[in-house]
Amino acid sequence: MAILPIITFPNKILRQKARKIKTIDGSIKRLSYDMIDTMNDAGGVGLAANQVGVLKRLIVVQIPEEEARIYINPEIIYREGSRMVEEGCLSVPGYVGTVERSIWVKFRALDLQSKMIRIKADSLLAQVLEHEVDHLNGILYMDHLAEHEKLRSISPEEYNSTIRPDQTTLQTDDVEHFHTHSQSEIKPQ
Ligand code: NI
Repeated sequence: MAILPIITFPNKILRQKARKIKTIDGSIKRLSYDMIDTMNDAGGVGLAANQVGVLKRLIVVQIPEEEARIYINPEIIYREGSRMVEEGCLSVPGYVGTVERSIWVKFRALDLQSKMIRIKADSLLAQVLEHEVDHLNGILYMDHLAEHEKLRSISPEEYNSTIRPDQTTLQTDDVEHFHTHSQSEIKPQ
């Protein structure tokens, strides 16, 4: 286990497309656990491999009060609706911006045992999945800013107290909503 350095904007790695993982071996497992440590150390709710300088399609997610999740070759296969959310990113420290995200998504990925996981997610989880899969495609949340909107810089105090980079200003309501409504497991087709 190790805490890895997080790459920040404008490093070009953040603009590159990560490659599909063909074999889930020991090095992928180790990278996954290191990424979880790195995300938790930084207080984030998600992290993509590009952010630690590895161009492989691997993301980790840490929804508050839930176990950390590891998703390999993740894909968003369906999106519905739109909502505006305030978002930040561990690779763009000190800023937040309002972006458009889906109301809910269908998502699939492999776990460390190469088992296909399919979930339907809304609320914070949907937002994190969209944000992290974007990273694997070289897309940053600023790319989704409406034209009239700008990134807003925030003080270190606000950054530490209210903003969860890689994702969002997390409200208690969101967490409750998440626990009651989201992440219903759907059966493989
Ligand atoms: Ni990010």
